[in-house]
Amino acid sequence: MSQTTVSLRGKKRTHTCGELRVKNINEKVTLNGWVDRRRDLGGVIFIDLRDRYGKTQVVFAPQHNEPVYQIAKQLRSEDVIAVVGKVGNRPTGTINQNLLTGEIEVLADDLLILNEAETPPFPIDSEIDTSEELRLKYRYIDLRREPMQRNLQIRHKMAQAVRRYMDGLNFMEIETPFLMKSTPEGARDYLVPSRIHHGKFYALPQSPQTYKQILMVSGFDRYFQIVKCFRDEDLRADRQPEFTQIDIEMSFILEEDIYQMAEGLMKTLFKEVKGIGIETPLRRMSYDEAMTKYGSDKPDLRFELPVENVTEIMRGSEFKIFESNIRSGNLVCGINLKHQVDDSTRRAELSRKQIDEVTEIAKSCGAAGLVHFKVIADSIDSPTAKYFIPEQLKNLREKFTAETGDLILLITQPREKIFQTLGQFRLELGKKFNLIDQNKNSLLWVTEFPLLEWSEDEKRFAAMHHPFTSPKDEDAVKLEEGLKEFKEKKEWSSDNPVGKVRARAYDLVWNGNEIAGGSIRIFHPELQQKMFSCLGISEEDARRKFGFLLEAFKFGAPPHGGIAFGFDRLVMLFTGSKSIRDVIAFPKTSSAMSLMDEAPSEVGQDQLNELHLKVI
Ligand code: AMO
Repeated sequence: MSQTTVSLRGKKRTHTCGELRVKNINEKVTLNGWVDRRRDLGGVIFIDLRDRYGKTQVVFAPQHNEPVYQIAKQLRSEDVIAVVGKVGNRPTGTINQNLLTGEIEVLADDLLILNEAETPPFPIDSEIDTSEELRLKYRYIDLRREPMQRNLQIRHKMAQAVRRYMDGLNFMEIETPFLMKSTPEGARDYLVPSRIHHGKFYALPQSPQTYKQILMVSGFDRYFQIVKCFRDEDLRADRQPEFTQIDIEMSFILEEDIYQMAEGLMKTLFKEVKGIGIETPLRRMSYDEAMTKYGSDKPDLRFELPVENVTEIMRGSEFKIFESNIRSGNLVCGINLKHQVDDSTRRAELSRKQIDEVTEIAKSCGAAGLVHFKVIADSIDSPTAKYFIPEQLKNLREKFTAETGDLILLITQPREKIFQTLGQFRLELGKKFNLIDQNKNSLLWVTEFPLLEWSEDEKRFAAMHHPFTSPKDEDAVKLEEGLKEFKEKKEWSSDNPVGKVRARAYDLVWNGNEIAGGSIRIFHPELQQKMFSCLGISEEDARRKFGFLLEAFKFGAPPHGGIAFGFDRLVMLFTGSKSIRDVIAFPKTSSAMSLMDEAPSEVGQDQLNELHLKVI
């Protein structure tokens, strides 16, 4: 029989490769799967037959069935086969406790090679030393590996758990279009040319933001969707050009309602995936505190090392670098590396070499240099200590609640940069000195983000979250003042009062990763118009871009707000993966390519003509 006519008829599996146990002994079974491994042991052939559910050992013995044994001799890794045989006990001493089917084996009576496989480009092992490019090119083979199967399994379970939870709370899953009008979320759009309307384009949604708000106007007061979003942005380990959100919107609610619903969702996922509880309500921290204390709007609070601003304490010293920086308006801030023990001397202080290493880390984070103060009994040891009066050193110690063995590390930089530099430095110190407890889960809300962000290049403000985010009621006055100032001056400046307006926006952060973000929305056309004015979007522009939303708001828009979880990021964290590419079946590379099907690719002239497009 030639290969192309091989049929499964009569050889369909009775069990999966992960199913057979001692209770099945003596049963006649048929298994289908891939040859995982073949071993020839003194005239007997053993194979591990693999499918999604597990592996089963199959034995081909010449004394049992010579013709079948002869066929088994041809088997190669990754061949697809059907095996008929009897379940038996494994001989004592050969039981594999690590395998669920490890107590049994199948003695083969019949074997059909359903399809032969070429030698795979890399082994189907859990740990492989293969470049990611090769894995992505042969993604179908990579996905056969156990960790990838497990990741997609967990992803599936999480999606189902999300649907059950949301449905239980009366949320409706409603699909929204992929071919839409461009809506800004801060990234570039992917555009799709229209064949019928020459010169016109659809945009792929950066998120369903405008649609979900319109659904609120339509009265679907609890909406959710597990949905693809598309953003043409620079990629990193936690970013993909197309990614999945758990997108949520609610009407007649306040921030508290969103927090409660989102915390419940996290509780459910923790229980289902990790089998552990998390304590709620979660910690909340203002953006301001997160930035000044941890130098990040997504602080990793599995460890402390807070940043302290000691500019006032250090002001007026003989230490020229600090003094000239402070005079020009820069800050002096730092971190206390608590109780570090030198590995070689076992003394509670770092060696010269370690301090050099720490200085290098600070520089790699953007600092020009690093000034260190070793704290010992009742004094401070530092090459720069002599430039400061005892009062300053005492206050420095107090500010950092420093004890013997601590190492105070200071840098000086402009206000706009210093917290970010120290935020990164803090993370690097955490890694270097093993301060991050990998078993800990630190979840927190970061709240009260600024409404607007100043762009020095463009000399204007941009929305920090998106243009539909509501300002805090208390800050409405600043918005009015700022707009008035703009009208008078006819230009924006970084110190315009609108820059101080806080938003009703929140992010959910897990171990230093932003896993969700959302806001309470503007629902009055007039306030929306003011927001557009702050963003430099003219009335005309606003009508052209979001006319439909402004129009919808005229017909009875309820107060509403929402949030979106980055689903891929959640799965990445729940599976302990290093990259979101490891939890997406067919991801893109960091240059937005799909190596398997070679997208993006050129298209034929016919297609371009039909779309009235010309490549220049
Ligand atoms: P935002 O832009 O903050 O909000 O996105 C929500 C969450 O989506 C994830 N995320 C990404 N994940 C992978 N790759 C990307 N390129 C990517 N970009 C974002 C992050 C982020 O927290 N419409 C608003 C939500 C709202 O206001 O309700 C929005 O999309 O985890």
